[in-house]
Amino acid sequence: MAIKFERVGYEYQDIDGKGYLALADITLNINKTGEFITLIGETGSGKSTLAQHMNALLTPTEGRVHIFGVKISREGKKDKNLKLNPIRQKVGLVFQFPEYQLFEETVGNDIAFGPKNFGVSEKEAEERAKKMINIVGLDESYLSRSPFNLSGGEKKRVSIAGILAMEPDILVLDEPTSGLDPLGRNALLKVFYEIHQKLDKTVVIITHDMNTVYEYAKRVLVMREGNLVYDGAPTQLFSRKNVKNWNLDVPDILKVRRAIEEKLGITIEGETRNKADLMAKIGEALR
Ligand SMILES: Nc1ncnc2c1ncn2[C@@H]1O[C@H](COP(=O)(O)OP(=O)(O)OP(=O)(O)O)[C@@H](O)[C@H]1O
Ligand SMILES: [Mg+2]
Repeated sequence: MAIKFERVGYEYQDIDGKGYLALADITLNINKTGEFITLIGETGSGKSTLAQHMNALLTPTEGRVHIFGVKISREGKKDKNLKLNPIRQKVGLVFQFPEYQLFEETVGNDIAFGPKNFGVSEKEAEERAKKMINIVGLDESYLSRSPFNLSGGEKKRVSIAGILAMEPDILVLDEPTSGLDPLGRNALLKVFYEIHQKLDKTVVIITHDMNTVYEYAKRVLVMREGNLVYDGAPTQLFSRKNVKNWNLDVPDILKVRRAIEEKLGITIEGETRNKADLMAKIGEALR
């Protein structure tokens, strides 16, 4: 098991010293390979807090997280032998707000920073920067620009390129496509899906977009008020009960499917994860 949460709780400390419990009793396992997970839940439900435990950016205030065999806990925090660098290289986290991730003078240096920091040669790091800027849909002219003068969507892409350049085993992406136009969003989702499929890497994506969840995810985690309330397949998730209890938006494909079933008085059997599936199943049902 690559990442293992054992009864994890996390309490933020406000400036006035008051505690705020953002995670409660989370138990969760994530495999090193083969997973494509989406993490969903209402604003403030604890998604980003959970993600920041996946590469030891936050230390649990209750329980333990094991990341590639390294135990992260409140008691172990002061252990001088605790090495977090290898963990950060293995689990790449793209922040929700890219401003927190960009700090170098040029985009090129920013993308090359991670790999260089983890021992990759200057030349190799530069090559990776060139490759990754293209992969996230920007051209090489961006490499010499200041990351601070970019649009929100461009900053997002650069911060993603920087994490990809470290070639992590597991990618954790906190709302990677928010603020992007629909074409850009779909193109990036395909990039993540390809990384998962071709390199057999585990990808965790935080999103509010139920279409992404339904079409791509193999596994969905639902957070609600600091608790993990669902860990399972997307096809079982959108029951009327769950939609009502957890205020879920229903994916477009399911809305259309349910409307067609009602209008035509037919029952469509099996899963319809995308338009092509749905069209084929309607054809079958009408035959
Ligand atoms: N630095 C902090 N200090 C105190 N409380 C915090 C801090 N960061 C987050 N919180 C609180 O913890 C809870 C969980 O926050 P978190 O950012 O994990 O939510 P989220 O599910 O990612 O929300 P969103 O969808 O808006 O990004 C929220 O109620 C938030 O107000
Ligand atoms: Mg968040």
